[in-house]
Amino acid sequence: MTLEIRDAKPEDEADWRRLWTGYNIFYKVMVPDEVTDTTWRRVLDPASALFMRAAVLDGRLVGFAISVLHEATWTIGPACYLEDLFVDDSVRGKGVGRALIDDLVEQAKTKGWSKLYWHTDENNITARRLYDQYAKADGHVRYRISFP
Ligand SMILES: CC(C)(COP(=O)(O)OP(=O)(O)OC[C@H]1O[C@@H](n2cnc3c(N)ncnc32)[C@H](O)[C@@H]1OP(=O)(O)O)[C@@H](O)C(=O)NCCC(=O)NCCS
Repeated sequence: MTLEIRDAKPEDEADWRRLWTGYNIFYKVMVPDEVTDTTWRRVLDPASALFMRAAVLDGRLVGFAISVLHEATWTIGPACYLEDLFVDDSVRGKGVGRALIDDLVEQAKTKGWSKLYWHTDENNITARRLYDQYAKADGHVRYRISFP
């Protein structure tokens, strides 16, 4: 089993869209096509703050982590917000999710990011079992106003 974590490539598009659909189903959302198209464009755009790391298992795209690097007020180095993490359900439990997070931790150390952080649903027990191995949930509660 060969697992590689690398940047997204244009040729990943079809496989990524299949995984993205699975991610939408998991969250019971329907991200409009126009938004998905924009997200994919941003992922490939080096000028965008948004970036994707792809998990390739034996040559097949099986997972992704999409993050945003942003400036912060409490630190000089940029903060990395991990927005979307997904692993194909056919390969779960094999360490792919962990490898995607490990990769971000490694980049944070080598590139001088000040923080890596993410949110999850309180009841996402599977994900939290993985996340609890990295840090203690910090107790912050999220408030959100969506503007359609
Ligand atoms: C969360 C997710 C990314 C984990 O990916 P994964 O490749 O299966 O995770 P790993 O194989 O690296 O597992 C790491 C740890 O997660 C936990 N875990 C993984 N699969 C599990 C399962 N089926 N049941 C219970 N715990 C599980 C275990 O604690 C495991 O650690 P261990 O190997 O020391 O026991 C994946 O389950 C997923 O895509 N879920 C749906 C989308 C989602 O919840 N995304 C996160 C939103 S914030």
